[in-house]
Amino acid sequence: MQTLIIIRPYAVNRGLVGEILTRFEKHGIFFSGLKVHWIVREEAEQLYGQHKGQDFYERLINDMLEGPSIMAVLDTDVLDNESAIKLVRKIIGDTDPAKAEMGTIRGDFGLRIAQNIIHASDSRTAAEREIPIFFEKKEIVKYREKK
Ligand code: PPS
Repeated sequence: MQTLIIIRPYAVNRGLVGEILTRFEKHGIFFSGLKVHWIVREEAEQLYGQHKGQDFYERLINDMLEGPSIMAVLDTDVLDNESAIKLVRKIIGDTDPAKAEMGTIRGDFGLRIAQNIIHASDSRTAAEREIPIFFEKKEIVKYREKK
């Protein structure tokens, strides 16, 4: 099983991609899939469908369409799946940069909630739903199969 992260257009535009990817790598997390992709509205609506009706919904969608995102499927087999997903969420920090701990991605680089730097699936169920929106099976490597 894997989980999904998306380095959003705002962060790509700020040149934070290398710094962000490094944080996951340094934890020993492998990338099973990695690409640059300019998200289209239909994909953004699929990703954030559960937030439809919230006052920030339109902004959330539009921000994703502003430029290319970097998206990665992270290999969670290093830990049991839910622990790995929690670890990834810990590395990125609280949604609100003002509440995120220093040392987390959002705590170190974020300014306000409306300028979100990174998305990560928040559960195994979410990861299973979100990964296929952006990745075909053949784009995801399984390290342990190749020995
Ligand atoms: S909620 O209401 O608990 O479901 O929302 P939350 O989990 O905190 O946030 C869901 C995603 O919406 C983004 N968000 C916003 N975007 C723009 N403006 C405002 N005010 C805002 N508030 C929340 C938030 O960054 C989450 O995005 P992802 O990509 O899932 O982290």
